Amino acid sequence: MKYGYFDDNNKEYVIDRPDVPVSWTNYLGVNDLCTVISHNAGGYSFYKSTEHHRVTRFRQNGIPLDRPGHYVYIRDDETGEYWSVSWQPTGKDFTKAKYICRHGLSYSKFQCSYNDIEAEQTLFIPLGDDVELWDVNIKNTGSKPRKLSVFSYLEFSFHHVEIDNQNLQMSLYASGSNYGDGIIEYDFFYEPWTYHFFASNFNPDSYDCVRDSFIGNYRTETNPAALEQGRCSNSSELGGNHCGSLHKKIFLQPGENNRLIFMLGVGSREEKGKAIKQKYSNLQAVDSAFEDLKNYWIKKTSIFQCKTPHKGLDTMINIWTLYQAETCVVWSRFGSFVEVGGRVGLGYRDTSQDVMGVVHSNPEKTKFRIIQLLRGHTSMGYGLHLFDPDVFEPAENKLPGVKLPTVVPKQNIADIVHGMEDVCSDDALWLVASICEWVIENGELNFFDRVIPYADGGEGTVYEHIKKILDFSAKYIGANGICQGLRADWNDCLNLGGGESAMVSFQHYWAIEIFIDSAKQLGRKDDVIKYSKMAAKVKVACEKELWDGEWYIRGFTKKGIKIGTNKSEEGKIFLNAQSWAVYSGVASGERAEKCMDAVDKNLYSSYGIHLVLPAYSKPNDDIGYITRVYKGIKENASIFSHPNPWAVIAECKLGHGNTAMKFYDSILPYNQNDIIEIRQAEPYSYCQFIMGKDHSAHGRARHPWLTGTAAWFYTAVTKYILGIQPSYNGLKIDPCIPSDWNEFEVERKWRGAIYKIKVKNPEGVEKGVKSILLNGKNVNGVIPIQDKGTVNEVEVIMG
Ligand code: GLC
Repeated sequence: MKYGYFDDNNKEYVIDRPDVPVSWTNYLGVNDLCTVISHNAGGYSFYKSTEHHRVTRFRQNGIPLDRPGHYVYIRDDETGEYWSVSWQPTGKDFTKAKYICRHGLSYSKFQCSYNDIEAEQTLFIPLGDDVELWDVNIKNTGSKPRKLSVFSYLEFSFHHVEIDNQNLQMSLYASGSNYGDGIIEYDFFYEPWTYHFFASNFNPDSYDCVRDSFIGNYRTETNPAALEQGRCSNSSELGGNHCGSLHKKIFLQPGENNRLIFMLGVGSREEKGKAIKQKYSNLQAVDSAFEDLKNYWIKKTSIFQCKTPHKGLDTMINIWTLYQAETCVVWSRFGSFVEVGGRVGLGYRDTSQDVMGVVHSNPEKTKFRIIQLLRGHTSMGYGLHLFDPDVFEPAENKLPGVKLPTVVPKQNIADIVHGMEDVCSDDALWLVASICEWVIENGELNFFDRVIPYADGGEGTVYEHIKKILDFSAKYIGANGICQGLRADWNDCLNLGGGESAMVSFQHYWAIEIFIDSAKQLGRKDDVIKYSKMAAKVKVACEKELWDGEWYIRGFTKKGIKIGTNKSEEGKIFLNAQSWAVYSGVASGERAEKCMDAVDKNLYSSYGIHLVLPAYSKPNDDIGYITRVYKGIKENASIFSHPNPWAVIAECKLGHGNTAMKFYDSILPYNQNDIIEIRQAEPYSYCQFIMGKDHSAHGRARHPWLTGTAAWFYTAVTKYILGIQPSYNGLKIDPCIPSDWNEFEVERKWRGAIYKIKVKNPEGVEKGVKSILLNGKNVNGVIPIQDKGTVNEVEVIMG
């Protein structure tokens, strides 16, 4: 069953049946103000932080789904009938009204056609202003003149989400609303930097700032009292629940249309509201802000564009997977319909990995994130697992504090630097690769010399930070010479403590090799020797201790019991132990082939590869929380999406283009567009996990958007399947494709030059490059870095 389709020309996903099984969301805003919005205009806005600076309210996980939202209602003033431009909240019968939602890159458009009125509401946040614009266009397509009323509606939230949800004796009396100059102001009397406003490009005929006046008692957003009355009651109050409703009467002759702009912004009426109202009352300013946003995404997406025989791959890589990866870098894991404000800050491993995927399309933000992560890095070598980067910002960059009139313990650095008990063994290792990838992409070798403080005091160059990361993993090894698992490794639910994690040792090897490549570039010969020895030692330990005959084990408990061995009753084979053995470069030859064959044989399903099988059913705290999760869900034997691209990369490293594509295709959301009755979640976004075969809802996808899957699939496809890899010396081209691909094209912008790459595969191979022509001349090995401003034709023959 399907509910929509991909419209590549407009870079949109079009939902033409809005009764989808779960909320299908989109993200508006790419800087500080953000709205997470569903296909039914439900959702909420926040400014920088979902915890501390909410703008509009959301009743998460509530019924009806997705309420409240950012709604526009239309009322026929002659009959009193009313409806919303998005299907919800009024929910008209589909046989009478036609609804479409178009989720685009940083905007969403709702279209409704009902009773000879065509209406459209486009929501977006301009690049340069902290305001959400609702561009509303209403057209009379009938033959009679129409008298209509248009109403906006949103519900304001107290800025601090926990207080908004749990401490009503405060939230209901510490914020108020007022109306003046056509602008609603939501005021925080004691905190003037937290005001919000809601304005429009017209002089309202009536307004409501008080939620309960607009909705009325014993009613919902489906049947607000104001819509039945045909006007708002001009309410405002100090204290209570507040909303933004501006009402305008319009008269439309047949064929005539009217465009209304609503503006939800951060700041007070005086400081921001008036100027914004004036600016965006000019429709040209709205149009050009929308154009700028479109161009912003055209610029990003044009850095890597591919044309292959696989339409779904093209759509996802050229548009959606990049967009999802960018969204993760900007909003980390703290703003969605799942993460609604209780867990903010940066997850060390998550952000380090997100960064890696978009070093090319977002060099500024990724550099900024890398610096934040380095400031959250300790002189012992570990990273702070989940931390608020603002704490480590130099004083001049700090946000104004959230000064609550209640007692809040002051944060003190010594409490934040949590110590070994809370250290995850993998966190900082990811950052090594992110930094090196960033430097390779952007060519700023001197970034390694930049001095950055440690979270616990002192400072070091970026290069020194990296060495501390690698030395930490070399130091914290267990009885078998494999890295200790500590509180957790990549798998949050494998809590091995002093037991050992195969994945971390593989990751350690991988990070050392990446570092050595950079150390060579920098001419640090002593370090090349030292860390080559370290890598060799790690490899020997892995090969000696982790091979199980058919595949690699996942580690050891602190009592020395093997995890993920053929002899285990449950949790026999883990995906990451195999994919990382190969991806890291530790495994080669027969073992590498065998362990990936074991993945295909034991873990593959038509919805993706399982993280582990069989699922655990007996709690075992030596292994960890994974054994206490329901079978087939999340870390306990679901198809956890994030590790799937590692299997694709591993297959590419082995030269198995057909299997790599089989793995890619199995989990590709695009391919599940027509089985939404099973998948449920949006087909344009990877989800954190898909229920595994041991669950009754096998194939159901959950937790869209904020997952490291996006960055990693972007990497797996662009660098390993299509094989376009920037390196210190030039552009390496080493594709690994299905044998039935005859050719494909990539246009890549890198360090100011354009490479138009045509790859031909006359012999139907999966891997191997026979020849490369750069602007008609033969090239051996990598393509040398070309001058800025040049356009270069590259022809690659596989064979
Ligand atoms: C979640 C966490 C991530 C972790 C993964 C596996 O996605 O955000 O940090 O690696 O689960 O446990």
